[in-house]
Amino acid sequence: MEMKTRIQEKFISLFGHEGDLYASAGRINLIGEHTDYNGGYVFPGAIDKCIVAAIKTNGSAKVRAYSVDYDEMCEFGLNEEDKPAKAWACYIFGVCRETIKRGGKVEGFDTVFAGDVPLGAGLSSSAALESTFAFALNDIFGNGIDKFELAKIGQSTEHNYCGVKCGIMDQFASCFGKAGCLIRLNCKTLEYKYFPFNPEGYRLVLVDSCVKHELASSAYNKRRESCERAAAAIRKKHPEVEFLSDAKRVWLDEVRSEISDEDFLRSEYVIGEVQRVLDVCDALERGDYEIVGELMYQTHFGMSKLYEVSCEELDFLNKLARKMDVTGSRVMGGGFGGCTINLVRDELYQDFVDAAVEQFTAKFGHAPKIYDVVISDGARKL
Ligand code: GLA
Repeated sequence: MEMKTRIQEKFISLFGHEGDLYASAGRINLIGEHTDYNGGYVFPGAIDKCIVAAIKTNGSAKVRAYSVDYDEMCEFGLNEEDKPAKAWACYIFGVCRETIKRGGKVEGFDTVFAGDVPLGAGLSSSAALESTFAFALNDIFGNGIDKFELAKIGQSTEHNYCGVKCGIMDQFASCFGKAGCLIRLNCKTLEYKYFPFNPEGYRLVLVDSCVKHELASSAYNKRRESCERAAAAIRKKHPEVEFLSDAKRVWLDEVRSEISDEDFLRSEYVIGEVQRVLDVCDALERGDYEIVGELMYQTHFGMSKLYEVSCEELDFLNKLARKMDVTGSRVMGGGFGGCTINLVRDELYQDFVDAAVEQFTAKFGHAPKIYDVVISDGARKL
């Protein structure tokens, strides 16, 4: 049965009538990782894996939310002290609170939701959840908040209710996603441009290691702090540096003795990565997928050796891709587990997928998951 039918049926069985249906998407990112909170460029797109929610106001001051995937109900109020204990419910609660903080109206509602964005795979299931509710509440309560602010509502939810000091990429992709297009986003100014992405003769495939390292969110926050320390050191000499992405590579060298080796390596990665996004966009406009792929490998190297957000399983998948002459491959998203994103020539696709499954399983004792992705629309009413 289609996901939205299952959700609607559950909604009717719990609340006795139909809800309105909304959806938003997970995302991929072709290149530009850990650049968003550094004011740099990213290059994501929404995908055909979504969160879908049925929602209806209930005339009370309470939210009654049911997660189909967890088979759990959670009820909470809308005041700051009402934060629910269940992690999944905090995303919905956070979106309500952040909408209210921006002057929006939110009253009690009932909701049932489910999704097919794999959890912990680096595909931003949490941003999909936040964007679904940010978009839906804005529509239902007629708040007239623009899409930029809806994305920020999701991001602030992560910061203030979920403990992750993330950038804006995931929520932006989820809110602004457009079928067939990647989005080059300047995370400092929020200027963006759609790039039609249909690489003839190539396919994008994700290989999910199915590992998620426990301290991922605290390690993520630490990376951010490293970058902020380096940016602060550079700013003393070059006051125009607001974010690390504003710094030239030579300016980083000037402060080498003032920052830790670790902060230096992290920053070296970020400054290189911001440039790689622009280089990939240029290469795409020329149709030069070999260069796109080579830059993806460079990103993997940086994420593994300088930024240190890869892991044994992802390095293994990346090496295998290189060995098989896959055009491009790298760890995608925040890292510490999750997927590699691979740009593969059509004729190599099946051999690569078979080899990845077989060799990864032999080495790590569990099979990776394979996802083909279609670049799709973001937040919407169904
Ligand atoms: C996570 C965060 C994003 C971004 C990526 C890394 O997905 O939510 O803001 O920083 O990691 O590029």
